[in-house]
Amino acid sequence: MAAFDGKAALVTGAGSGIGRAMALSIASGNGSVMCADIDEQGAQATAARVEEAGSRALALGLDVTDPDAVRAALEKTAGEFGRVDVMMNNAGIGSGHSWDRTISVNLSGVYYGLLHACPIMAAQGGGAIVNTASIAGLHGLVRPKPVVDDLTQLEGLAAYVSGKHGVVGLTKQFAVAFGPVGVRVNAVCPGYIVTPMTAKAREMEGGTEFLESIHPIGRLGEPEEVAAVAAFLASEAASFVTGVAMPVDGGYSAR
Ligand code: NAI
Repeated sequence: MAAFDGKAALVTGAGSGIGRAMALSIASGNGSVMCADIDEQGAQATAARVEEAGSRALALGLDVTDPDAVRAALEKTAGEFGRVDVMMNNAGIGSGHSWDRTISVNLSGVYYGLLHACPIMAAQGGGAIVNTASIAGLHGLVRPKPVVDDLTQLEGLAAYVSGKHGVVGLTKQFAVAFGPVGVRVNAVCPGYIVTPMTAKAREMEGGTEFLESIHPIGRLGEPEEVAAVAAFLASEAASFVTGVAMPVDGGYSAR
């Protein structure tokens, strides 16, 4: 039996990068997917790819900073597919934004997903949630040049790292709270992955070489390599795994 036979998932940030790969990995396990993104066109493109892969998919415009909209997205998923077995709280922005905006999307957005998904899953007898944290949820981020004189860059980095550490904390707290009612909550902590989010860092002079050099495997990751681990954590194969923040980082956090 495929990993997600008869199951339904909501993936946020599904319009690009890692979220698109997550939607496709659920589809490859025969699951239905609600593809949600603030970029509705991106979500639609992903939904079309999921359908081409032979699974059911719908697209939804969703801003994860709006708690009512997050609840409505979960209700719509349950209404359309009959259940919500899996939620991937993946939507996020990079380190080039203000403190408030970064915390709002990367931390509060995940909190709203957990807050509204866990009770729905508990009521239906269980479920699995995977949050996309980061190596920045476990460590500070290094840059090729010192950032001591660049307070704008530091604001974005500090907000990104704090938000992702917060996602690891939320993962643990909700795993503890909802373990007794059959809801597992885990996080993936990717290293640098080849997606639009990292384009600027990869394209600056010497950028790719620097980023490759901080991953012992000697290259950047692909979205599918993160999605595969997220799919494992969301599947029954991980039935005794909850509350973990799993690096998917080519050895970055082993150094
Ligand atoms: P991406 O930029 O390709 O995709 C992010 C998606 O989130 C976009 O489709 C975007 O429209 C959506 N999004 C942004 N704000 C939103 C909001 N308020 N509501 C709903 N959707 C929103 O980036 P990528 O790399 O696929 O990032 C996915 C997640 O992975 C993010 O949480 C990111 O922080 C995390 N991550 C990425 C790494 C990387 O190296 N690319 C490394 C570690 C973590």
